[in-house]
Amino acid sequence: MPPRAKHPGAQGFLPPETTLPELRAAADGCRGCDLWEPATQTVFGAGPADAPLLLVGEQPGDVEDVEGEPFVGPAGRVLAQALHESGLDATPRYVTNAVKHFSFTRQGKRRLHQTPKAAEVSACRPWLVAEYAALRPQLTVCLGSTAVRSVLGTDVKVLRDRGAVLERDSALGPGAFLVTVHPSSILRAPDDLRAEARAAFVADLRVAAQFLG
Ligand code: URA
Ligand code: SF4
Repeated sequence: MPPRAKHPGAQGFLPPETTLPELRAAADGCRGCDLWEPATQTVFGAGPADAPLLLVGEQPGDVEDVEGEPFVGPAGRVLAQALHESGLDATPRYVTNAVKHFSFTRQGKRRLHQTPKAAEVSACRPWLVAEYAALRPQLTVCLGSTAVRSVLGTDVKVLRDRGAVLERDSALGPGAFLVTVHPSSILRAPDDLRAEARAAFVADLRVAAQFLG
């Protein structure tokens, strides 16, 4: 028998029916890469199927891994506040991640976020493609470079291309995309730059609000 591929990818785990509830249930059992094993559970996307706005993060964090929902930890609080300030509060949104299991290293009792590898991002992309096909959002916002790379490839750069609506034929299919920073970058910003970083993030999201009308 040939050795098992290290990252066979999620494709073989997709259900025959690709509605969001069916996808979510099937993703629970995904073994498309090695990240499932040390993690607590799959953290699938959440939100209504008719949401005009899709938000894509990197991967669940420590809190999300335990709770099973995306963006319910510290980065999620930054995101929620910024969505509020940008006027997107009332816009139905579906929130998900490029990678659906928490990638971490252990340091004593702490679990430290580890940026997912390119092979893991690729392995997990079929879930994101399927979510996009089920949602058909009017606008997709990529939060940070992992989401940008998964959706738009390496030609798009967060700091160069942020805050503008890009009409692209993406890895998820054609559509309108907006790239911005990851909310955790605001938490990590030095004290004297944090307010500015937050304001720039909100300004990017205001462009999304305007686009969605
Ligand atoms: N960071 C992410 O990218 N996604 C989450 O769900 C939480 C933190
Ligand atoms: Fe499957 Fe994605 Fe989890 Fe890897 S990270 S096991 S591809 S759901």
